Amino acid sequence: MKLRVVDYGAVRGKYVLLRVDFNVQIENGKIVDTFRIEQSMPTINKLREAGARVAICAHLGRPKGEHVPELSLRPIADYMKIPFVDDCLKRDFMVGMRDGDIVLMENVRFYCGEEENDLAFAKKLATGFDLFVNDAFAVSHRAAASTVGVAKILPAFAGELLRAEVENISRIMESPRRPLLAIVGGAKVSGKIGVLKTLCKLADTVIVGGALGTTFNFACGKNPGNSLYEPDMVATAREIMDVAAANNCKFLMPIDKGVGATFEKTAKRVNKGLDEITERDVIIDDGPMTTDRNIDVINHAATVIWNGTFGMAEWGDVWGESSFRVARAIAERTRAGKLVSVVGGGETVAAVDVAGVRDDITYVSTGGGAFLEFVEGKTLPALEILMA
Ligand code: 3PG
Repeated sequence: MKLRVVDYGAVRGKYVLLRVDFNVQIENGKIVDTFRIEQSMPTINKLREAGARVAICAHLGRPKGEHVPELSLRPIADYMKIPFVDDCLKRDFMVGMRDGDIVLMENVRFYCGEEENDLAFAKKLATGFDLFVNDAFAVSHRAAASTVGVAKILPAFAGELLRAEVENISRIMESPRRPLLAIVGGAKVSGKIGVLKTLCKLADTVIVGGALGTTFNFACGKNPGNSLYEPDMVATAREIMDVAAANNCKFLMPIDKGVGATFEKTAKRVNKGLDEITERDVIIDDGPMTTDRNIDVINHAATVIWNGTFGMAEWGDVWGESSFRVARAIAERTRAGKLVSVVGGGETVAAVDVAGVRDDITYVSTGGGAFLEFVEGKTLPALEILMA
């Protein structure tokens, strides 16, 4: 996929509408993880150094066209130490802007025209700008006014992060060093049907885990106890396993679990084999035998692509054990130069972070849903419109 790229030599004095994904967690006005912001800095810095006058456009959360003060982007402007424009349709800030200046505009999803990809709204958003640069890979699966609409109105180009995401993930998906291992965890099979089918066709081995793995275990007749799983996804789970079998892809699911008496951080952890699980058990993590087996597969893989944790990693070491051990195993082998590793999805990246190994992963994507759809091979609307 070849994207139109910015000619930095031609942006001096130009008003640039820059779409980024700053959809980050903010607690009590403090940004929990600045990864997405840092990843857009190369584009921001290059535009500024080239003398562009940049207005950043972004969304936060899902305010559905309402002005929700808790979803204001102001804390991010404060963090970046740049001026904040409290309405993304105001243009008075442009007066007096000098080459290299930058502002951050308020949450574009405060207008319903954004998610509706309304042309009239896109025209208002594009007003006053000379060109559009999209660096928001993480929202490129959404056809919105600020990702697709404005790209039809202004000369539109891909930013550095967008390009890097597409290049890095494509390279690994198109010609992976084999054996290729895909690890998919998380809560629901229903949100990952397409990507699971694609991976079962591409990979040599697919490992499923977490609550998603419990649904596969259930489809194979195992007791899910009193845990999160999707009983109505049994037929789909079987279909996915059939795709794996038809493509000579080894399909591995959990063989033991960490269970508690209640779904709580403070629950006492007991590890149980699948046949020992009772109606009262709440599965909260994959078990240690599963993780040992997974690490063994990782140690024989040449490429790993990982999305989705296996337990409540956000609750710390007890319930994050399997996710952290897998993160460290992937990092160790990558560090040794024996593995190419790609990780995507907010919770997975957070687990990699808590394990302290983000810098050891070959490529960490900023995308969640967009990462999954890209890996699945879908055409993402905000990328399609930037194709050269
Ligand atoms: C994300 O956080 O994955 C993106 O910003 C997309 O957010 P959305 O799912 O609310 O569209």
